[in-house]
Amino acid sequence: MKNIVVLISGNGSNLQAIIDACKQKKINATIRAVFSNKAEAFGLERAREAGIPAHVLTADLFASREAFDRELMQEIDAYAPDVVVLAGYMRILSPAFVEHFAGRLLNIHPSLLPKYPGLHTHRQALENGDTEHGTSVHFVTDELDGGPVILQAKVPVFAGDTEDDVTARVQTQEHAIYPLVVSWLIEGRLVMRDNSAWLDGVRLPPQGHAYE
Ligand code: GAR
Repeated sequence: MKNIVVLISGNGSNLQAIIDACKQKKINATIRAVFSNKAEAFGLERAREAGIPAHVLTADLFASREAFDRELMQEIDAYAPDVVVLAGYMRILSPAFVEHFAGRLLNIHPSLLPKYPGLHTHRQALENGDTEHGTSVHFVTDELDGGPVILQAKVPVFAGDTEDDVTARVQTQEHAIYPLVVSWLIEGRLVMRDNSAWLDGVRLPPQGHAYE
């Protein structure tokens, strides 16, 4: 059985989608552990509820980002992960961390990358009058929200939408596409090579695999 470790900072609804997909055998792997950099993250409850070891590692105990990431890396390695999933993990990663897990490290970002890297993506989409918005699953590289895109899901933005409306619409899509991408990586169908994502031997275009 392959091993997954999930990193969170908050609600953990994407974690929940992955827990459910593992239970339903849509992902053929076990989530060995969940780590949060926030003690109050609700996702920790979700992990405990599912019988998954839930750990908190807060940055205030470390002198530098590198020292924090070194400790986190060691604790993650104890679970021998085949895949490390960032699910709403809101910390910038050190280059050593990214390099250590390269090719096994996935992130979900709530925009149609390369549009809107960083924070407040839904607000930006609304402020710019976008009629289309969405979410992207990508391999993590040193470039913030800049690694090769694997899969995107688009959602419409309607006149009068609030940030909450858009967030909910995007998250519904996230819960569908993130488990799917995790399953591809677990099954060995997905690899990162030459700064691209490849699925079943085919190099994916910059916007990732077309998802309908
Ligand atoms: C998700 O919408 C995810 O795309 C976003 O945080 C949310 C976490 O929700 N991630 C980022 O913004 C990363 N830059 P969740 O805790 O309910 O899964």
